[in-house]
Amino acid sequence: MAASRSALLDNLAGWGIYVVGFIPAVSSFWLGATGGLGADPVRAFEQTLGLWALRFLILTLAITPLRQLAGINLLRFRRALGLLAFWYAAMHFTVYLTLDRGLIWSTIIPDIVRRPFITLGFAALVLLVPLAVTSNRLSIRRLGKNWRRLHRLVYIAVSLAAIHYLLATKVLDPTQAIHIGLVVLLLGYRLVRGVVRRPERRAA
Ligand code: HEM
Repeated sequence: MAASRSALLDNLAGWGIYVVGFIPAVSSFWLGATGGLGADPVRAFEQTLGLWALRFLILTLAITPLRQLAGINLLRFRRALGLLAFWYAAMHFTVYLTLDRGLIWSTIIPDIVRRPFITLGFAALVLLVPLAVTSNRLSIRRLGKNWRRLHRLVYIAVSLAAIHYLLATKVLDPTQAIHIGLVVLLLGYRLVRGVVRRPERRAA
């Protein structure tokens, strides 16, 4: 009984994260539709979605260090945060394809192939697809150990997304510095932890 109550609470909390997580997209869309996004609403909307995609990737990566370093266990929210990152990246891409590029494939394909910053963003999104598709219990069970291996792709995806962001703007502003700094910190933590743990495991 207690176990099923905690499963129910976990489920509710998961849904709560989705509801709250989509607020930036809905409010930005609303502002855009009502003239509140400034002189270039499409660009502002596209940027907001891209930034939130990166923010959710950062939050997803923060779950493990929070647990290991501070004892705060938010593991049950990781799937929702990861999926939010994917949906924001997909919406960012959709806005680019439709509102920004007007579905003109003769400009979209060369953009993706020849402009390094777009290529990197696209590669990041492609890497997130298998992660989103296998983020369910059935895939975890079916893939076994390979599930963990596959989900390490998130490290490559977030690195590509951070470089994409770095190249998207000409100057490094404070918002960019904070986001990219967090990505470096979270990836650095994995590297250091890997180096520290290897001798520990050998000794064990
Ligand atoms: C995981 C995937 C992605 C993430 C996390 C991401 C993130 C970002 C971020 C943070 C920005 C800068 C926002 C700002 O200036 O405040 C940005 C800009 C941009 N992204 Fe992405 N992006 C991703 C994928 C893509 C894809 C697939 C495309 C298109 C093929 C794309 C096209 C663009 C464009 C055109 C801009 C510049 C918008 C502008 O300032 O005019 N991104 N992206």
